[in-house]
Amino acid sequence: MSSTDRRLERMLEPVQDGLVRMREILLAQIVESSSAVSDMTGHAQRFRGKQLRGALVLLSGDATGNSTDEHPSVAAIVEMIHLATLVHDDVLDGARTRRRVASVNVRWDNQIAVLLGDFLYSRAFSLSTDLSSRLASRVLSETTRRLCVGEIEQSTKRFDFELKEATYEAIASAKTATLYSAACELGARYPGGREDVGREMAQFGAEIGLAFQIVDDCLDVVGDAEVVGKPVGNDVEDGKITLPVLWTYARATEATRAAMRDIYTTPGLEGRRLAGLKAACDLSAGVEYSMARATRLVDSARARLAILGESGARSSLEELGSFVLERRW
Ligand code: FPP
Ligand code: MG
Repeated sequence: MSSTDRRLERMLEPVQDGLVRMREILLAQIVESSSAVSDMTGHAQRFRGKQLRGALVLLSGDATGNSTDEHPSVAAIVEMIHLATLVHDDVLDGARTRRRVASVNVRWDNQIAVLLGDFLYSRAFSLSTDLSSRLASRVLSETTRRLCVGEIEQSTKRFDFELKEATYEAIASAKTATLYSAACELGARYPGGREDVGREMAQFGAEIGLAFQIVDDCLDVVGDAEVVGKPVGNDVEDGKITLPVLWTYARATEATRAAMRDIYTTPGLEGRRLAGLKAACDLSAGVEYSMARATRLVDSARARLAILGESGARSSLEELGSFVLERRW
């Protein structure tokens, strides 16, 4: 076990029992008699990763003294929605691997991946109707709306080098931070009430989630594919102009800008665009700038936890911030 794995395990220690229950609920929810579907859900389970979003529901519940018997179900719903979005995202991005295994669109095809994502989303939806309060359905349906809008906006801004930093952040917040925010809000508030703590925890999640996406975008240009567990350079191949790139572009000479634009758009460079981008410009200051932004977000998020009493779960939430910044995968 690597030191990062051990660190994660330590962080999740306060909610270990809840996580075991969450996984049981999730598995029971996606069981199907169709062996074809079982093969596919079994495969998608391998993208499971860190299950940070589910863990955030449970940690936020514990840290705010709001844990209920239903929190593991809420966490399972959040993880199922996350899984559904990953399966769909890999279709949109034409991604070949995720967490070191073939994406569903590659192992099967795009049609299957769209349907499997729908299946997972419908199972999440179904479980939410079994809960005693409608708060989770309400928060998560709004979350998925914003997530879809974020993805649509992102698609319309491909190859847009004039993208404003605020627009980049709005898209990253919508597509990634909203689910983090919902996980923390529901942990703190479900089944209802405690709106003030819920609001603060929603902000905590939104800042941690945006920091996570900024780090993800930095790893896509400077990460090691072996460690990250998916190919790097995907954003460059897909025409997504991320923060380290747009910062570099805004400060580059016209000649460098033209070279950068060409690398994203010239046909025939498939698979070689990241190497070309790195040859055309120095991204290191843009990465440094982006990481500094992510660090400020994490600092602000951690400061919000001051409203909570001391507990193991609160310490874990604090540490999760530094984990998001230091992760390499
Ligand atoms: C990852 O971004 C993408 C997301 C976090 C959201 C994807 C959402 C959708 C495709 C909408 C699907 C909606 C439903 C309801 C199922 P990324 O491509 O930058 O990250 P990656 O490197 O992990 O692929
Ligand atoms: Mg993607």
